[in-house]
Amino acid sequence: MRTQVAIVGGGPAGLMLARLLELRDIESVVIERRDREYVQQRVRAGVLEQATMDLMDEVGLGGRMHAEGLVHEGVELRFDGEGHRIALSELTDGRAITIYGQQEVVKDLIEARLESGLPLLFDVSDVEVDPSAPRVTFTHRGESHVLDCDVIAGCDGFHGVCRPAIADVLTVYEREYPFGWLGILAHCAPSSEELVYAHHRRGFALASMRSHEITRMYLQCEPDEDASEWSDDAIWDELDRRFGMQVNRGEVFEKGVTPMRSFVVEPMQHQRLFLAGDAAHIVPPTGAKGLNTAMADVYLLAHAIEDSYRGDSSGLDAYSARALERVWRVQHFSWWMTSMLHRFAGDDDFQMKIQQSQLLYTARSTAQATALAENYVGMPFRAR
Ligand code: FAD
Ligand code: PHB
Repeated sequence: MRTQVAIVGGGPAGLMLARLLELRDIESVVIERRDREYVQQRVRAGVLEQATMDLMDEVGLGGRMHAEGLVHEGVELRFDGEGHRIALSELTDGRAITIYGQQEVVKDLIEARLESGLPLLFDVSDVEVDPSAPRVTFTHRGESHVLDCDVIAGCDGFHGVCRPAIADVLTVYEREYPFGWLGILAHCAPSSEELVYAHHRRGFALASMRSHEITRMYLQCEPDEDASEWSDDAIWDELDRRFGMQVNRGEVFEKGVTPMRSFVVEPMQHQRLFLAGDAAHIVPPTGAKGLNTAMADVYLLAHAIEDSYRGDSSGLDAYSARALERVWRVQHFSWWMTSMLHRFAGDDDFQMKIQQSQLLYTARSTAQATALAENYVGMPFRAR
């Protein structure tokens, strides 16, 4: 088998890259370890930055996002018993975020790929990459395959095989946080129209949503917390305490704990292998940046690949350096939001006051609120 671009991983990064290449008449094969059902049901991100929304439109797949997504022009910071709105759109010349589940983005991309009849193979195993050949080998439906290509796109997430294949040449920058997030999805109307990021002595809490009928909530918890040990009532009671108000309650139909880490490898490329998305970097979810950063990477990579087929390989050569500029901006923002909003073990009253002061300054100062807003709606995607 031969293709131009072998894409390992059918998450948001791999599927969007495939779509961008299709629109440029560049061939690709996407291989995904899981089955279609699993990939489409995996509950993860919910916030699309303005540039991700624009990208969905650019690739002709914004229809359902506009019909079903919820556009938000602000978010609330809640601390010391009071809410403070950050007017995202006013502070950023009309840019906004949209609440649209990651699995909806993935469904839209999968459907488009299958409709166009292009190769997207689920349930592959024994995936190995050879970045110098370049070549990908794998098993599909009991048969071994060898896929020769010009470029390998490593879009296989944090636990994939692409990053380990070039581990020898990578420098790892990492920070683990001593807490996790207990997340729930519940059948009830959101308790507020906009997202609420709450700082509280007992720990951080976040109120988000998926629709007018589905609430998404998170509580800071121990990193190794067992979600099944939390009764629904205990979760709702703790949410009430941390938000300082009675939140709407409903049937909880999904519960899980997410660990929190910051992680970057440099460089994001070696020989003919190019890493994108969670394969190369992870952020704590406090800034809602993971999915969006994966999209920014593949936007840059698709342009670089396109240019290389036109005889200009400078974009591919500079891919890692260019991607990392934005990656580190996002890393700083996510770390800053996480540090400002969470309680760390051993934090004393001094630290509590420092966090509250930082939050009040962010809410009151136009300069600081603008810094939050422009990072939150997201920096523009770079093509070259
Ligand atoms: P992934 O989504 O991990 O996709 C990688 C794919 O590769 C997977 O489908 C995997 O099955 C496949 N794969 C793995 N190994 C192999 C292999 N060997 N061969 C073939 N395929 C393989 N981000 C935001 O932007 N906003 C948010 O609000 C947000 N909230 C989050 C909330 C939670 C609870 C979590 C867990 C994450 C959140 N994120 C958020 C992060 C976001 O979900 C990820 O950053 C995003 O999924 C990255 O996309 P990706 O395509 O790079 O990786
Ligand atoms: C979500 O809705 O899942 C969500 C929202 C904002 C975040 C993280 C997750 O910062």
